[in-house]
Amino acid sequence: MSHREVMEECRLFYLGGQETTSSLLVWTMVMLSWHREWQARARDEVLQVFGHDSKPDFNGLSRLKTVAMILNETLRLYSPGVALDRVVSKETRLGDMNLPEGVQIAIPMLLVHRDPELWGEDATEFKPERFEEGVSKATKNRAASFIPFGFGPRICLGLNFAMTEAKIALSLILQRFSFELSPSYAHAPLKVLTVHPQFGAQLLFRRL
Ligand code: HEM
Repeated sequence: MSHREVMEECRLFYLGGQETTSSLLVWTMVMLSWHREWQARARDEVLQVFGHDSKPDFNGLSRLKTVAMILNETLRLYSPGVALDRVVSKETRLGDMNLPEGVQIAIPMLLVHRDPELWGEDATEFKPERFEEGVSKATKNRAASFIPFGFGPRICLGLNFAMTEAKIALSLILQRFSFELSPSYAHAPLKVLTVHPQFGAQLLFRRL
């Protein structure tokens, strides 16, 4: 690879990896502030696995079932990516549609994730218990109904890295603090590359 290509790859990793994971973390904190019972459940699990002082290790992270459910439910409702873009490489029949070569399509994952036909009448509600028995059970084996990291050969390269990073950050926070939203918080998700809280997410932390 040329120096330029290496630099481009580094940029892609930084942009694709940093913004997305921080978006996931911030919405998870907002969700756990709104749903304090899930914050308590997640903390109980983290304290059970790591105690109050130990640093999260890889073995322990794989035992964080409740935290994983919460992250998946947040990814469903607030997918950092919003939509997937594709270009049709050769004429393709998809259901009753004929897609000519060269056509650009956008798959609005955020709408798919909130579709009542796929997720039920409570599709817009935060219910991590949907993921209690894993992603395939939650999607009833319809993989295309949960695509926060995309799908197919171009699925996100950093999927496992991002989930590990989010679990570590969340564990360190839950071990030490309880948190809630400040009264000044205004819920206004806005898409600027990824989905951000437009006016920030002011959180009040209390050391445990
Ligand atoms: C919560 C965090 C993340 C989310 C939601 C996310 C989401 C996505 C999505 C939707 C795609 C497009 C997939 C497709 O078109 O099918 C993608 C691609 C990609 N992501 Fe992520 N991502 C995250 C974190 C990361 C991290 C941490 C890295 C790197 C360290 C990363 C690196 C990449 C790369 C290199 C691609 C392009 C893959 C390709 O085209 O072959 N992502 N990501």
